[in-house]
Amino acid sequence: MTQDIQIEDLNVYFETASGPVYAVKNLSTTFHAGKISGVIGESGSGKSVMGMSILRLLPNTARVTGKCFFGDQELYTLPLRQLRKLRGKQIGLIPQNPNASLDPVMKVKRQFVEAVTAHTSLSRRNAAQDAGALLEQFGFTDAGAILDRYSFQMSGGMNQRLVSALGLINQPGWVIADEPTKGLDAPLRNQVYRVLRQIYRKNHSSMILITHDLLLARQLCDDIRVMYQGQIVEQGDARAVIDAPKHPYTAGLVGSLPSRGMHPIPLPDPKCEGHSGCPFYPRCEKATAGCAEHPPGEVTLPDGRKVRCRLYG
Ligand SMILES: Nc1ncnc2c1ncn2[C@@H]1O[C@H](COP(=O)(O)OP(=O)(O)OP(=O)(O)O)[C@@H](O)[C@H]1O
Ligand SMILES: [Mg+2]
Repeated sequence: MTQDIQIEDLNVYFETASGPVYAVKNLSTTFHAGKISGVIGESGSGKSVMGMSILRLLPNTARVTGKCFFGDQELYTLPLRQLRKLRGKQIGLIPQNPNASLDPVMKVKRQFVEAVTAHTSLSRRNAAQDAGALLEQFGFTDAGAILDRYSFQMSGGMNQRLVSALGLINQPGWVIADEPTKGLDAPLRNQVYRVLRQIYRKNHSSMILITHDLLLARQLCDDIRVMYQGQIVEQGDARAVIDAPKHPYTAGLVGSLPSRGMHPIPLPDPKCEGHSGCPFYPRCEKATAGCAEHPPGEVTLPDGRKVRCRLYG
């Protein structure tokens, strides 16, 4: 039985030439074992940084404070040797950028074989067979030929599915899937959803699914966290969050869907510059004067929904 992933007071900023850039701010949350937890939010809201921080895969310029418990292990201070044993085996990763994560000078087969033999005593031949079988599940009809290629010989969509398979090859109890369907056409997207769901059911896996596809998140996830400027501003049951959003930002994300009228969230009102209140205040159509003064705390509503907005405070 795998364990919860519990993040406590995570802050991440990057040292840049123009000063620190905060990506995640005072974020605490528990991802529950046995669930598919969706993470949604606009580009730059901190979804990937939060996900990558769990496995300590952020670039060297990232400064991280806080704690992340996986059962009784604290991942941010775990010796690297132990963390390496855990990566890919207990917590798998499907990274957002396949081209950056696949090795361009190593054939696909060797990348799979090394991922498997790093964690098991399986022979290289059996490891390659397992890889071929998984690639077929991901819609590759000629898995043998694919394994014999380099990533640069394949399309972006093929590489996207390859990294998904690579993240799942050791059947990890947890998977962090960062936009696993980006750039895929509708039939392949559906195929990837199906495989993720099947694997999740078969292995009773737990998943953090980072996605821009709100309707996928509604369909596939148990719960959803909504991120804005490095904070979780809403969290609750997946269907409830998408069908009846509470936070004006979540309502804005849902309202910008083509199927829901395609109304974009307004850009920040320049008159609101320099405020010390809610980060969403300059774009919020429901803002009142008080919103400019104090950032809202997180409120838990009677149905268990968590919201960071003065409307509910
Ligand atoms: N290596 C880096 N150096 C400086 N800033 C970074 C770096 N990586 C991320 N950031 C910043 O951190 C913030 C959060 O980035 P992150 O990649 O987590 O966003 P995201 O929600 O995953 O966006 P997307 O949906 O586009 O993938 C952004 O402001 C981004 O510019
Ligand atoms: Mg991202």
